[in-house]
Amino acid sequence: MEQNLVNVFKQKFNAEPTYTYSAAGRVNLIGEHIDYCGGKVLPCALSLKCTVLVRKNGTNFMRIAATTIDATAEIDLTNTENYKDLKWGNYQAGVANELVKAGYNLVGVDILYHCTVPFGSGLSSSAAIEVATAYALLKTSDNKIDKREISIIAKNAENNYCGVNCGIMDQFASANGQKGKAMLLDCQEITCEQIPLELGDYALVLANCKKPHDLRESKYNERREETEKALSIISKKYNYKNLSSVPFSVVEEFKDQLGEVVYKRAKHVATESQRVNSAVDYLKSGDLISFGQLMIQSHLSLKDDYEVTGKELDALFFAAKDQQGCIGTRMTGAGFGGCTVSLVKKDLINKFIENVKSEYKEKTGYTAEFYVAEPEEGIIG
Ligand code: GLA
Repeated sequence: MEQNLVNVFKQKFNAEPTYTYSAAGRVNLIGEHIDYCGGKVLPCALSLKCTVLVRKNGTNFMRIAATTIDATAEIDLTNTENYKDLKWGNYQAGVANELVKAGYNLVGVDILYHCTVPFGSGLSSSAAIEVATAYALLKTSDNKIDKREISIIAKNAENNYCGVNCGIMDQFASANGQKGKAMLLDCQEITCEQIPLELGDYALVLANCKKPHDLRESKYNERREETEKALSIISKKYNYKNLSSVPFSVVEEFKDQLGEVVYKRAKHVATESQRVNSAVDYLKSGDLISFGQLMIQSHLSLKDDYEVTGKELDALFFAAKDQQGCIGTRMTGAGFGGCTVSLVKKDLINKFIENVKSEYKEKTGYTAEFYVAEPEEGIIG
């Protein structure tokens, strides 16, 4: 355990921590806005993560504090419904609530959160907090650990308690990531194939546009409704289990009935689902150049058809795309702010960062932040 975190824990709770666990943030390589349409996505877990220090406190309360903000909360585990309005702590309360509803017996704990996933960056800090909370609560109460189940509990917490209608991707990646692997996650079945991410001379570079986003305030839920509308119109004639299974030719057939906006959303879902399949084939055969081309097409589809990129992410994208050694780049996560992910030749990374940073600053006034990412374990502990 890191000594300075132990010291903070002691200050906050007047006691020694006993356990430490962590859950990762994630980057999605391709398959954006596809999880809630039942398709396949390709995220990996990051070394940016939420670490928790924990001790059983002998009460019925989950008491929580954080290193990065000066906030605390106390959640009564026998009455978890009451904390939806917490400014800080509602993710944790939501997870406790879902665990109780699922029939788990929980014991009272003190938890200190130390999250290195930047908030509002599109790298799933909230999923990391939720998954770390679920893992800590289950471990300390001697329940069996099933990482798939943890991701479902965490997602339900976000949907039911925090008002974000997100899909399963972030929580699944946070719980199930493996070092050196990307997860080809089937969001309908919630099953995944771990795929070795062999990038050779290339590395993943994340660029945070530093314009914070909040899914509750963004058009995220609106996009989800538009895709549901598309499926319900197409379902009047055909029987598809989800929108991701609808081929582009069928979307075209319904162009007039869908109307311009819903058609564009369905077009993105159909073409992006296709891109995920091709991207996995390219990854398996080591064709990174073609993989990178699909990343670029994905961004353009999110920009023109799904309309979730915005000025900042587009500025990062266009600055990155033309850099020497950059063979692929796209926004990652929900959009409306957050990060891009680029595939960059390792020996050109410094130059890449320098150039993209200055071009982006010139265009938007924001100073972007960069991270070189390696796929890591989701849960540790
Ligand atoms: C957010 C959501 C995910 C997913 C992505 C877009 O990260 O939490 O469930 O929908 O946006 O791919």
